[in-house]
Amino acid sequence: MKVLVIGSGGREHALAWKLRRSPRVHEIFVAPGNAGTARVGTNVAISAGDFPGLLKFAEQQDVDLTVVGPDNALAGGVVDLFEDAGRRAFGPRQAAAKLESSKSFAKDFMVRHGIPTAHYAVCRSRDEARAALGDFSFPVAVKADGLALGKGVVIAQSRPEAERVVTEMLEQGRFGEAGRTVVLEEFLVGTECSVHALVDGRSFLLFPTAQDHKQLYEGNRGPNTGGMGSFSPSNKLAEPDLVEIRRQILEPFLHGIQTDKLVYRGLLFPGLMLTAEGPKVLEFNCRFGDPETQALVPRLETDLLDLLEATLERRLDQVTPAWTTQSAVCVVLASGGYPDRYDTRKPIAGLAEAEQLEDVVIFHAGTQQEDNRVLTAGGRVLGVTALGANLSSARRRAYDAVERIRFDGRYFRRDIGLI
Ligand code: AMP
Ligand code: GLY
Repeated sequence: MKVLVIGSGGREHALAWKLRRSPRVHEIFVAPGNAGTARVGTNVAISAGDFPGLLKFAEQQDVDLTVVGPDNALAGGVVDLFEDAGRRAFGPRQAAAKLESSKSFAKDFMVRHGIPTAHYAVCRSRDEARAALGDFSFPVAVKADGLALGKGVVIAQSRPEAERVVTEMLEQGRFGEAGRTVVLEEFLVGTECSVHALVDGRSFLLFPTAQDHKQLYEGNRGPNTGGMGSFSPSNKLAEPDLVEIRRQILEPFLHGIQTDKLVYRGLLFPGLMLTAEGPKVLEFNCRFGDPETQALVPRLETDLLDLLEATLERRLDQVTPAWTTQSAVCVVLASGGYPDRYDTRKPIAGLAEAEQLEDVVIFHAGTQQEDNRVLTAGGRVLGVTALGANLSSARRRAYDAVERIRFDGRYFRRDIGLI
């Protein structure tokens, strides 16, 4: 079978790496990929946003299955294009991917289907927002409606701050189009966590727990990033929490997409707050998490292709994947300056040595092959991942590998998996 993975991050490398291990996958393409994906398959120089180019390539090569990594490709309707041309693609269709790409759409969906979430108001003008703010206490979450690289949320501590942020979003183009509509949301107190589940429209299959570290600095401080590391299993979610998440969130979600006739065959990754009143949804992500995927995939003992195909064929209720009881830790090595400005094209040394360590796998994100060198090419550069009998042994192995990899400006957190 020929498989095409769309995207170029650590998540896509992890998916391609695992799919490559399937005895049924003979060829794997990654568009556009990175220096790491070039080692598990063939990189194709087509951007994740060039949908006609991607479809044309899939038709020329007669690709059997396309796996979509990034949110904006799903939001742009790449799955619709492929499916309407008779090609299988893993991921929700555009109308369902709106659950991630429009927060107001997602909130209306949650309320309609009884999924617990924070109280909210959708505002399209400053006057509307001013009037609505009267109903909130502070702090309040002010959210750009659309996709904003995970940065479109501001927790405003006071009414003047909330009004300023609303004005910036609605009238001054902060977050561009994504901020043309604003969602005000009650501030929830609790433990933040997330789950990953495959959804085929008829049933869902919950993955083991995983969590990322969003903040740039140790001790979970500093600006939010795409994620500085991850580990699995997570120590935040106990079995009773998962029972409630199934009952209060995943089951109503399934019922909701059926009622609303949304075609969802892909991964659902809700961001949650465990509050005193139970779990509440902060957001729906309609794709695999990055870097959560890098910690989950190495724990999967079953063929990933079987799971993706079961999702597309709506028979998730018939598969039971096996997961290792080992823990996984993924430490992200980033370019100095990320998530703001950073330099690229720094040669990376020590990859081969680090990769030889037992139970270590290095997922590439912002890397690029040039002749026989691997260069940095993005903010998040590598996801150094290790398995171990428990979290501390996985951490030890991952950091042992990290210490062997060097590039100019290399930055990483030393406390991944600790808090
Ligand atoms: P989101 O993109 O909606 O997940 O929001 C980004 C971050 O803002 C989350 O990871 C939370 O830490 C925080 N956040 C979002 N909404 C709320 C809320 N209603 N109450 C408290 N914190 C929130
Ligand atoms: N690691 C968070 C995300 O993928 O959205």
